[in-house]
Amino acid sequence: MNKLVLRLRQYGRCTMATTEDQNGKQQPDRSVDYILTGKVYIEELPPDIEPIRKFLEKYSGIRAKDVDDHIHEIRDRLWEIYPYICIGHFRFLSLKFTSDPRYQIALNRLLAPQSDATFLDVGCCVGQVLRQLTFDGVDSARLYGTDLEPRFLNAGFDLFRDRDRLRATFVAGDMVTPAGGQDGDGEGDEKLKVLYGKINIIHATSFFHLFTWEEQVRAASKMVRFLDADDPDVMIFGRHVGTTTPGDREGAAKSKRFLHNAATWQELWDEVGKATGTAWRTELSEIEEPGMHPDGNTDGTLQRIGFGVFRA
Ligand SMILES: C[S@@+](CC[C@H](N)C(=O)[O-])C[C@H]1O[C@@H](n2cnc3c(N)ncnc32)[C@H](O)[C@@H]1O
Repeated sequence: MNKLVLRLRQYGRCTMATTEDQNGKQQPDRSVDYILTGKVYIEELPPDIEPIRKFLEKYSGIRAKDVDDHIHEIRDRLWEIYPYICIGHFRFLSLKFTSDPRYQIALNRLLAPQSDATFLDVGCCVGQVLRQLTFDGVDSARLYGTDLEPRFLNAGFDLFRDRDRLRATFVAGDMVTPAGGQDGDGEGDEKLKVLYGKINIIHATSFFHLFTWEEQVRAASKMVRFLDADDPDVMIFGRHVGTTTPGDREGAAKSKRFLHNAATWQELWDEVGKATGTAWRTELSEIEEPGMHPDGNTDGTLQRIGFGVFRA
């Protein structure tokens, strides 16, 4: 069995799978192709690609005629690292987050005269949010990004061609390493400690829904440690997949992930509050967008959710 098929088994996501025929020749596995083509990896750029095309021309200086090839090249590189559906569908290039009112609140605070506020994108992948903030006029030295996968962080510099001018700080680290696990000190991944106490605004999109309840508590508790304890106006915001029937769902490779409604999202943050000696108020809003979850919203219970978390 070849490597691509193995990847499919592992992640349940892949489209170019092949199998060996009787003569040992690689042939496309039509059944796999049929099931997955257009579901998790699409060839055609999506209809909402125009804003990032323009962004890559203006921010990165890429010629209009070269932009689409550049996008495809980087997308395929990311897909090889890990086949997230948001990569297969080019959703990591969507700039729709700019219309989130909480993005505007964050931007206003970052741009206020004499502001020294800082912003961290958790699970930032290629760091598109940080580039947009920079383009919107924020001093990139006050921007931070963290992700488990250093190759995503590195690919961001190639995607946006700003290695020599972006002053943002990127830290590769694991947000859900069990307490007492890797480093034995009860606080998980040592590398993330450089962010403790430094941050005023945290963004996390398509992040929480990757994890179990316990992992989400660990990730959220770590976010609390990143925040400036003396700032009453900190904000954590973003979006993810929510549901009208909260609970465990099966994710890739039979992993478990917990999807929330408004009540369980608040419960999670109450638990985080108890664990960290803090208190949190949450808000959720449904985002109306077409094309919800091609890999399974068969019972119609899944929703795209925007969220905000504030000190109570
Ligand atoms: C579905 S992608 C979303 C990326 C980006 N936020 C976006 O909206 O385009 C999830 C991201 O979370 C990162 N991630 C997954 N597990 C993580 C962990 N344990 N700690 C930190 N980052 C993690 C992945 O590497 C990936 O970049």
